[in-house]
Amino acid sequence: MRLATESRAIDADLIRACGDDLEAIDQSIRPGTVINVGGTIHSLASSAVQQRSETPRAAIRRVQDDLREFCQRAKVDRLIVVNLASTEPPPDVGDLPVGWTELDSLLDLPERCPLPASSLYAIAALDLGHAYVNFTPSLGAALPALVELAEQRGTCLAGRDGKTGETLLKSVLAPMFAQRNLHVMSWVGHNIFGNMDGVVLTDPANKAAKVTSKDKLLGEILGYTPQSLVTIEYIKSLGDWKTAWDHVHFQGFLGTPMTLQFTWQGCDSLLAAPLVIDLIRFTERAGRAGQTGVLSFLASFFKSPQGVCEPTFARQYEMLLAWAQSLA
Ligand SMILES: NC(=O)c1ccc[n+]([C@@H]2O[C@H](COP(=O)([O-])OP(=O)(O)OC[C@H]3O[C@@H](n4cnc5c(N)ncnc54)[C@H](O)[C@@H]3O)[C@@H](O)[C@H]2O)c1
Repeated sequence: MRLATESRAIDADLIRACGDDLEAIDQSIRPGTVINVGGTIHSLASSAVQQRSETPRAAIRRVQDDLREFCQRAKVDRLIVVNLASTEPPPDVGDLPVGWTELDSLLDLPERCPLPASSLYAIAALDLGHAYVNFTPSLGAALPALVELAEQRGTCLAGRDGKTGETLLKSVLAPMFAQRNLHVMSWVGHNIFGNMDGVVLTDPANKAAKVTSKDKLLGEILGYTPQSLVTIEYIKSLGDWKTAWDHVHFQGFLGTPMTLQFTWQGCDSLLAAPLVIDLIRFTERAGRAGQTGVLSFLASFFKSPQGVCEPTFARQYEMLLAWAQSLA
């Protein structure tokens, strides 16, 4: 109801009309894990979840039992597991093995396993042959070993970090500067919003994952790295309504400094929801077509598309069209 009363994002009558469905969904919710999620997310969990002590493998087994039980109850064979949990701090995965067998052996050794909850959920899903989509900047399945696991189990994955607002505009506008040969000197983006994602991102460790995801495509698109700044600030009164103000300073003919400024105001949940639905539909279709491994044709949905080097929105969209045509 908070989306209706506090954020004025969804009509309260619509939420009331969906009351029975929402109640049924609530009944299916099970406790997750907060292994390696950092202090801020840990503090959001119930005390029962906080106090649970288990190895990464035990957490995976428990989640797998819940997934099996859900499949039985819902009478479905295949699931698409979508990660929509809070943004985790980026873990240090530099020394992790690239092969699944070696990574698998670390799951019994909590002290040597830096995998965060998002990756444990990914393993739980992929290992059972279910697809995994990561809508967040968290690590999830962005490891060679997990791509190998998906291929071994004949399933697929996609990620990461839904491209819903300011970064969507960046990936559309930056190619224009490149193609008109307008040299971008600096690109500053200030983001303010007041939902729970904003609370989590006030922690500098969690914010680091999001800022990297929002910032890195500029250099990839332009071919050089202008001075850039991305800020993300929690402003409680805004609720789910996000405002991004971007200031792009570029050079015109004879090096004349010029400026583009834009203001993007959108409701975060309403921007994300249709993308999540489409991601599920496309992933389901790809699974039915027997596709395994990384679904690179979904790149246009993500800020940091896994397995794809193409950062330009228009070309990413062409990949989606080509995939659709190949199925037709
Ligand atoms: N437009 C968008 O909304 C948008 C765009 C791109 C990415 N994202 C990402 O999607 C994620 C969700 O965004 P939101 O606005 O819905 O956030 P939110 O804070 O409203 O919801 C996140 C939920 O995840 C739960 N959670 C946190 N850690 C968990 C764990 N380990 N296991 C199970 N549950 C856990 C939290 O308790 C909370 O209920 C964030 O990572 C955000 O960065 C959102």
